[in-house]
Amino acid sequence: MAELNVNIGDLQLKNPVMTASGTFGYGIEYADLIDITRLGGIFVKGTTIQPREGNLYPRMAETPSGMLNAVGLQNKGADYFAQHIYPEIKDIDTHMIVNVSGSSVETYIQCAEKIAELDKIPAIELNISCPNVKQGGMAFGVTCAGASEVVKAVRKVYPKTLIVKLSPNVTDITEIARAVEAEGADSVSLINTMLGMAIDAEKRKPILSTITGGLSGPCVKPVALRMVWQTYKAIKIPIIGLGGISNWKDAVEFMLAGATAIQIGTYNFVDPTVSVKVIDGLNEYCDRHGFKSVKELIGALEV
Ligand SMILES: Cc1cc2nc3c(=O)[nH]c(=O)nc-3n(C[C@H](O)[C@H](O)[C@H](O)COP(=O)(O)O)c2cc1C
Repeated sequence: MAELNVNIGDLQLKNPVMTASGTFGYGIEYADLIDITRLGGIFVKGTTIQPREGNLYPRMAETPSGMLNAVGLQNKGADYFAQHIYPEIKDIDTHMIVNVSGSSVETYIQCAEKIAELDKIPAIELNISCPNVKQGGMAFGVTCAGASEVVKAVRKVYPKTLIVKLSPNVTDITEIARAVEAEGADSVSLINTMLGMAIDAEKRKPILSTITGGLSGPCVKPVALRMVWQTYKAIKIPIIGLGGISNWKDAVEFMLAGATAIQIGTYNFVDPTVSVKVIDGLNEYCDRHGFKSVKELIGALEV
């Protein structure tokens, strides 16, 4: 049996396989289907300081090999999370990581401060793909200045492991990765969803209420893989790779491209047991190739 443990900042993960924010609830929803304590970590739903209703329906559309979503960060807010959800999940034997979202630098700070008070949450994942309402709705994470501003502000108030989740809707993701590394991020995760659109030809209308939405699933995997590889060459902090992972082979590919750990998102909807199958598959792959530790895969792509 190969060693599967890896480190992200101060976090020691029992294995590199985690589940992605917005696709795995708070983890407990899946507890009847798989042993969720086998996971390296669970990234819980996007959490904002104030409750959010989310966008109007329809807010999902199926696409070839993927889906579009415009859920709009529906959640009951950080106070509700702290009072009602945290007590339910705090003793689960894996890392429970909160995805922190915001609409201004101040709301990111407030949310990060609130989550920092929760002892058993060892890390946050900062979702910088959110629109900055004070800057005409442009996402923080699509410019170096916007990304730096929010990461710098949150770093000052958040002492634990800070993972910054990058947007793929940029020309050069390595610039953004370098900018957030310079502001003190402990790790980056990539990719968030890609901006897309679906149209109903018969009705001559967009399918999503928001017109555009976020594309995810196997269709985005080649883009995500390329971005992980480019980012690996540009920064020193560990990368968490995600985007379209649906089996152990995909996970191996992301690690070869430079990811220290991975997340599985949309594919949980297709097969809710996929994450544990990926853990087993990684183990078998390492044994078959004579790797003593899964860490030997990180960035081991031969080019
Ligand atoms: C329904 C849905 C909701 C999502 N909600 C969030 C969220 O709240 N915060 C976030 O950072 N990413 C969110 N994402 C993005 C995923 O975490 C992930 O980055 C993306 O889907 C790519 O991975 P995948 O192809 O494995 O799904 C969501 C994705 C989906 C499909």
